[in-house]
Amino acid sequence: MERRRKVGVIMGGPSAERDVSLRTGEGVAKALEERGHSVARVVFSTGDVLPELIKASRIEVAFLALHGRGGEDGCVQGMLELLGIPYTGSGVLASALAMDKLKAKEMFRLHNVPTPPYYVATDADLTDLEEVHGSFGFPVIVKPRGEGSSVGVTKAHNLAELASGIEKALAHDACALVERFIPAMEVHVGLLDGRVLGAIEVVPKSGLYDYHSKYTAGATEYICPPRLPSTRARGVMTLAERAAKALGCTGACRVDVLVTEGENEYVLEVNTLPGMTPTSLLPKIAASAGIDYGALCEAILEGATLRAGLRPAVRPAAASHVSLHDVEESEPISAVKVG
Ligand SMILES: Nc1ncnc2c1ncn2[C@@H]1O[C@H](COP(=O)(O)OP(=O)(O)O)[C@@H](O)[C@H]1O
Ligand SMILES: [Mg+2]
Repeated sequence: MERRRKVGVIMGGPSAERDVSLRTGEGVAKALEERGHSVARVVFSTGDVLPELIKASRIEVAFLALHGRGGEDGCVQGMLELLGIPYTGSGVLASALAMDKLKAKEMFRLHNVPTPPYYVATDADLTDLEEVHGSFGFPVIVKPRGEGSSVGVTKAHNLAELASGIEKALAHDACALVERFIPAMEVHVGLLDGRVLGAIEVVPKSGLYDYHSKYTAGATEYICPPRLPSTRARGVMTLAERAAKALGCTGACRVDVLVTEGENEYVLEVNTLPGMTPTSLLPKIAASAGIDYGALCEAILEGATLRAGLRPAVRPAAASHVSLHDVEESEPISAVKVG
């Protein structure tokens, strides 16, 4: 029997989504252990040097349970490429594009994927906001260019709220996105390796799927499958597929879509490392497709690969990361999948 690779579940990190990441990581680690994998919990905390942590853990494949900046944005992916350690989820470029809401929207526009109209606001715009906002109208949604979990997201109905919303967003990023508020049903579509698993309707009681609605028990109702006629549901799923493809996303991802009462659909974003606590949306979507939590974790792990196409000689670890660890086992290097 083929020896199973030692899996490192990488969690924690410096982002605002650290707590979610720790819960995702623990859920995944437990599920993989229950399925017979040898698992190391690699908990990344302030002051840690992640490559050193990974080196010390002697892992052969990385299951990324990080969220937000530094974990979901291509940085960790690039480091693992250089170390020669296959990892789950999207590659460097797709991760970076998806995390940057402005760049993602530019790619959506390029690929004819509808996304809400928007403009970019910085500190400098606050002095002359009325002119900058012009005839854009209200209400609007203000969000930082690159965060997740609805950190720093607000709804503004007038100039005063817009100014404070932009200030709030700028506490997280040098750049804020001001988007037209779209009154719509919210549907999140789960994808695995480019294939739609299913979708879930998200109904926040407050009307906005903000941090509170996301992480407070009972604050949001989830309906799976979404209450949509089947042709419309298929259209939403196809749109989600196109959005993920526009950014080049692979592995498991979740696409947030707004579905209006009329004929319009808008993609908000693609989450390249979606929450994977046992009660997160992607596991809920997978369950509705008959895939339980453990099987989903296993399927995501199976897709772990290197994506940048670096030749081993380019990487500092000469032959492969295995040599970094001074491992004495005679496991052939070819056991590390280079894709
Ligand atoms: N343009 C918009 N119109 C209506 N609701 C929005 C809009 N943008 C964001 N939202 C609401 O805010 C939530 C968070 O926004 P999103 O762009 O998905 O950022 P995050 O990365 O924080 O999840 C969405 O799930 C949705 O409920
Ligand atoms: Mg979102």
